[in-house]
Amino acid sequence: MKAPSTSANLGAGFDIVAVAHDAYFAEAYAAVGSGCGVHVKFKGYDPGPENTVTRCFKKFFELTGICRGVEVEVENNIPIARGLGSSGAAAVAALAAFIREAGIKADPRAVIEAAGYGETAAAGSPHFDNVAGAALGGAVVLTSLSPIDYVKFSPRLIFVVGVPEVPPMPNKTKVMREVLPKSVEFKTYVRQTARVASLIAGLALSDPRLVARGMEDEVVEAARAPYVPGYARVRKYAFEAGALGVSLSGAGPSVIALVNEKEAEAVRDAVLRAYAEEGLRAEVKIASITEGAG
Ligand code: HSE
Repeated sequence: MKAPSTSANLGAGFDIVAVAHDAYFAEAYAAVGSGCGVHVKFKGYDPGPENTVTRCFKKFFELTGICRGVEVEVENNIPIARGLGSSGAAAVAALAAFIREAGIKADPRAVIEAAGYGETAAAGSPHFDNVAGAALGGAVVLTSLSPIDYVKFSPRLIFVVGVPEVPPMPNKTKVMREVLPKSVEFKTYVRQTARVASLIAGLALSDPRLVARGMEDEVVEAARAPYVPGYARVRKYAFEAGALGVSLSGAGPSVIALVNEKEAEAVRDAVLRAYAEEGLRAEVKIASITEGAG
């Protein structure tokens, strides 16, 4: 099964919003046998025995009471530690492959909960936004974190996704969560709530202008931006070339810009130029909302 790359947060929707896009995919195959437990092989890299996929399966077995002997192979073409939901997509693709091979029915909420728990292996704490996007596709809004619940929209949106080649930051998501403020002023909270409302209304109505307003974020992104190489220039050049909204993709360092189709190539070129002027190599793709792993 294939699971797509995702951009979580999309500005103001910290930990509750993600879009699935066709920039990259992770693919997984599962063989189901007797016994109970999971063995995972990753093609081309080794995240060690405590990885998002094994943790996701253990949680899924625990939540559902279903347990089988599973051999999984993961081929992950989503760049790792770039804020594109790579580790979560690997877990979602693997679990979806198991569910299909085992011929079981699974509540998507259990998949999101298990795979979000799997993220503890990469991020130090669970988060459910990337895995919800990878599992369900489209644009997902988590309406409850405990118990997990969600709504899914299928807006028609086009993005430019910029993925810089920067040296990997050890425990990147964990570190980028530790820099977040412990509290915000009440006035900030109200402004931020308006942005979240705009973001969700825009996703529901497929209205890029409303989504773009929600991509502004003075809380999470403001705390993280100083740690993201080239971000200020990428943002500036993207807007100058016609982007409607720009935000970090997840915890970064990748960047996602919302664009109209006619400006997509100009924004892609501007983002590439910004990275080049920062002395950074980067892959910059035009991407659309896509389906999830099922
Ligand atoms: N919502 C998570 C965060 C996504 O921003 O920390 C991590 O990719």
